[in-house]
Amino acid sequence: MVVRNLVLLMLCATVVAPIVLYTHRIGTFKSASSRNEYMEEVTAFTLNGDSRHLHVLPQESSTNLKEPVGMVYTENSTQELKLIEHKSARVLSATVEESQSGGENPITQVTDSAQKVDENGISKTLGSGQETKGGRERKPAESEKEPNVIWSERLLENVSRNVDASVEDHSGKFTLNRKHPEKQNEPMAQDARVRQLKDQLIRAKVYMSLAATKNNPHFIRELRLRIKEVQRVLGAATKDSELPRSSYDKLKAMEQTLTKGVQIYDDCSANVKKLRAMLHATEEQIRVHRKQTMFLTQLTAKTIPKGLHCLPLQLTSKFYALDSSQQQFPNQEKLEDPSLYHYALFSDNVLASAVVVNSTIRHAKDPEKHVFHIVTDRLNYAAMRMWFLENRPGKATVQVQNVEEFTWLNASYSPVLKQLGSPSMIDYYFRAHRANPDSNFKFRNPKYLSILNHLRFYLPEIFPKLNKVLFLDDDVVVQKDLTPLWSLNLRGNVIGVVETCGVSFHRFDRYLNFSHPLIAKNFSPRACGWAYGMNIFDLNEWRRQNITVIYHKWQELNHDRLLWKLGTLPPGLITYWKRTFPLDRSWHVLGLGYNPNVSQKEIERAAVIHYNGNMKPWLEIGIPKFRNYWAKYVDYDHIFLRECNINP
Ligand SMILES: *[C@@H]1O[C@H](CO)[C@@H](O)[C@H](O)[C@H]1NC(C)=O
Ligand SMILES: *[C@@H]1O[C@H](CO)[C@@H](O)[C@H](O)[C@H]1NC(C)=O
Ligand SMILES: *[C@@H]1O[C@H](CO)[C@@H](O)[C@H](O)[C@H]1NC(C)=O
Ligand SMILES: *[C@@H]1O[C@H](CO)[C@@H](O)[C@H](O)[C@H]1NC(C)=O
Ligand SMILES: *[C@@H]1O[C@H](CO)[C@@H](O)[C@H](O)[C@H]1NC(C)=O
Ligand SMILES: *[C@@H]1O[C@H](CO)[C@@H](O)[C@H](O)[C@H]1NC(C)=O
Ligand SMILES: *[C@@H]1O[C@H](CO)[C@@H](O)[C@H](O)[C@H]1NC(C)=O
Repeated sequence: MVVRNLVLLMLCATVVAPIVLYTHRIGTFKSASSRNEYMEEVTAFTLNGDSRHLHVLPQESSTNLKEPVGMVYTENSTQELKLIEHKSARVLSATVEESQSGGENPITQVTDSAQKVDENGISKTLGSGQETKGGRERKPAESEKEPNVIWSERLLENVSRNVDASVEDHSGKFTLNRKHPEKQNEPMAQDARVRQLKDQLIRAKVYMSLAATKNNPHFIRELRLRIKEVQRVLGAATKDSELPRSSYDKLKAMEQTLTKGVQIYDDCSANVKKLRAMLHATEEQIRVHRKQTMFLTQLTAKTIPKGLHCLPLQLTSKFYALDSSQQQFPNQEKLEDPSLYHYALFSDNVLASAVVVNSTIRHAKDPEKHVFHIVTDRLNYAAMRMWFLENRPGKATVQVQNVEEFTWLNASYSPVLKQLGSPSMIDYYFRAHRANPDSNFKFRNPKYLSILNHLRFYLPEIFPKLNKVLFLDDDVVVQKDLTPLWSLNLRGNVIGVVETCGVSFHRFDRYLNFSHPLIAKNFSPRACGWAYGMNIFDLNEWRRQNITVIYHKWQELNHDRLLWKLGTLPPGLITYWKRTFPLDRSWHVLGLGYNPNVSQKEIERAAVIHYNGNMKPWLEIGIPKFRNYWAKYVDYDHIFLRECNINP
């Protein structure tokens, strides 16, 4: 019985969503102090797993949500509304981590910080429907409103005038709506009575919780009885045809009881309070859903799609089938020629690297003068070699190296390597569920743990013979000839950068802990931030100014992560402080991995576009309108891609 009630309750709650849309209409009513008495149903509403808008949510989450409602749905009504969020958050966490104890609430921790990550704009793009404020303002087109939406809308319109009228009116509305073919497609018409019964339940529960009813045990008893009856006839029915024959009598009886309620209770302000409480609960619920969406987005961003997993495996096996003379690249004499144009690309993603190389060469004026130095990890080494052996970038030269062969790069030399291997760092990354809310979920991405990500600080060691190197991230696409960058005079600076303070206000205080005296003393919080992704490095200046020493010093100072959290930009801001040369913005357009607002004009003018953010173009969650700027450099007909079922 209980379970059935719960299911019913959840179904009933579909009424609440439309109410949110009209918050502002009753927003003007004075709020009374006690929402407490509404706890009972409010909680049930909170847990309504309305996941239709949550594209990222797995379907089963709503069923998971159902189970714990029983704990929440009690006759007890003395709790505060705050509790709702807590409980539902905990319930939600069950979809992720089954074994959480009651005391902790890891998803809240996780998602709390995920919300701070909001700057990435993920929630904005994924969740306009879930946003609390957006939800309020958003009005669905008339055609998508369901009958109960219309009811709620009208009820709210009239609630200030007369509660009796509106409640009585409503059953009539249903009969009316049933006759509206444009608003009722086939399945809806088949469940008119089911809806009516469900709606009665909601109204009955409203009366159950109203204070005046509580003083009328007679009425309460009757109401309880009717609720039970209606719940029984309703059962798990979703269509009118599944209802027992007695349903009509029960419906009638309930209607009479509710009419009594209207007579007993004609104070509309209490109804308003009630609705407000429901709205509040719904908003809380939306907030929780939104957090969960954020969390799942982060998760998706970390998960490698099957095809991209398959590709290196296929390539690896093909590579080892070659004999060793076939495993070599031509033109290796060009690798150390300082008169050529050298690129540094550090990546574990074969497809992404292929796009970077292909797009660069496609726009290069003299492809034979361009040299790509790709460094990857042990796992992807053979695959990366195989790809570029099979897909020679025209006359350009390619070198593929394995970072583990850099013996000079070891923990005794590099503080960051030492820190990456330290127990405290591993703890920080992999023990997500701590009581400590200092959870920087964004940084729990394993990519921050990879030494590949930190190789950019060792360019002079990697390229001892070269003077200038262009560093490219693997999530960029090159759209112009980049040759002029090597002839640029950096005027004694070490790195050429595109600054990010103008439009997006990314200044130093965003990345560094200015509460720390070491940071506050040495840097300016208002200094302009800049971006990695496409940077020209003057390696001679680097060596002359002992930049590596500076970097190591700061990296040591940050052993306890008090100066900055993880990542390479904060240490970059510090290391190249006052040694950056600003490039024109059109060299490097950022944000295609999180910001749908990047203008087409800007993108088309850009020499390099950068999919920084979680929505990489090779992931499902990539922003569709930006995808083709990347995908047009992928040859989806290629046998390797077809074998792995990688499709546009
Ligand atoms: C309701 O909760 C209060 C305190 O949490 C408790 O004292 C009371 O016994 C509870 N009532 C019911 C009916 O569970
Ligand atoms: C995109 O533009 C909209 C409307 O101008 C704005 O609300 C939103 O915050 C912007 N998103 C990002 C990520 O800048
Ligand atoms: C709302 O009130 C107006 C005017 O009093 C009335 O014409 C209308 O039918 C009412 N609507 C509902 C849904 O009660
Ligand atoms: C780049 O990709 C295209 C297919 O998208 C292919 O035809 C071309 O040969 C590739 N160029 C290089 C240099 O790899
Ligand atoms: C570690 O690196 C330093 C300098 O980079 C080098 O002298 C030393 O031999 C390396 N140690 C090992 C064990 O490779
Ligand atoms: C910033 O530095 C202060 C002073 O050392 C420290 O107490 C605080 O925890 C740091 N903040 C973060 C977020 O690490
Ligand atoms: C760089 O270090 C070398 C030796 O370690 C030192 O002689 C030189 O003065 C340093 N240069 C600068 C600019 O600090």
